[in-house]
Amino acid sequence: MIQVALCPSEIRRISATDLSGVTAVVFDVLRATSSVITGLASGVEAIIPVRTVEEARDRKRKDPELLLAGERDGLPPQGFDLGNSPEEFAKIKGRRVVMTTTNGTAAIESVRLASKVLIGALLNLDALADYLFTHPARNLLLVCAGTGEEFSLEDAVAAGALVARLPYDQGVSDSAIMTRSLYERVGNDLDEWLRETKNGKHLQKIGKGADIRWCARLSVFNLVCQLSGGNIISLTD
Ligand code: MLT
Repeated sequence: MIQVALCPSEIRRISATDLSGVTAVVFDVLRATSSVITGLASGVEAIIPVRTVEEARDRKRKDPELLLAGERDGLPPQGFDLGNSPEEFAKIKGRRVVMTTTNGTAAIESVRLASKVLIGALLNLDALADYLFTHPARNLLLVCAGTGEEFSLEDAVAAGALVARLPYDQGVSDSAIMTRSLYERVGNDLDEWLRETKNGKHLQKIGKGADIRWCARLSVFNLVCQLSGGNIISLTD
């Protein structure tokens, strides 16, 4: 069965249920999961997602070797080493990064008790689809992190792009069919659609429009990442 959690309230509801036996794929296309994928593809050793800015700072106090990354309102919190732009993550090699973002890391945290938590973005869709083909999940939950408390189009499009690549012809929920139809409607105009989203407009307003172009690229990284013992690591050699 493929199910899709379309917004934060639905993620909270599902996180209170038994997630054993569930493979979750978390999408926060603009920009948290795109930054995670870019970082791990470029040589970041591991990313530690945490909920709050204070928790991130506390981790760094205990281990000064860590880098702090993330955003609030799209911008890096005071004293952080980097924000939430994928191009910043592309420059980090061989370091461990603590990351906190408004929706993305919160969504990852919410489903941490699932049997498997994978990280999804447009950037690694084919790799994810190949992985799920060779490691089929009986219960697949696609988690759309959203923007603030709201549904976000970009995460639903990415979830639909994954649904469209999976060989399941039975056991697809209404929400999964809806995201697939949305993806088919968007076609190749990903960059254009992402610019029209609430988060896309906000990123352009704060001068981060280049991040949208980066995140709108399809399957440019052959990489699958998994949450393992609180760290997001690459499963790909
Ligand atoms: C989030 O986690 O809410 C987003 O990644 C926000 C952003 O940096 O655009």
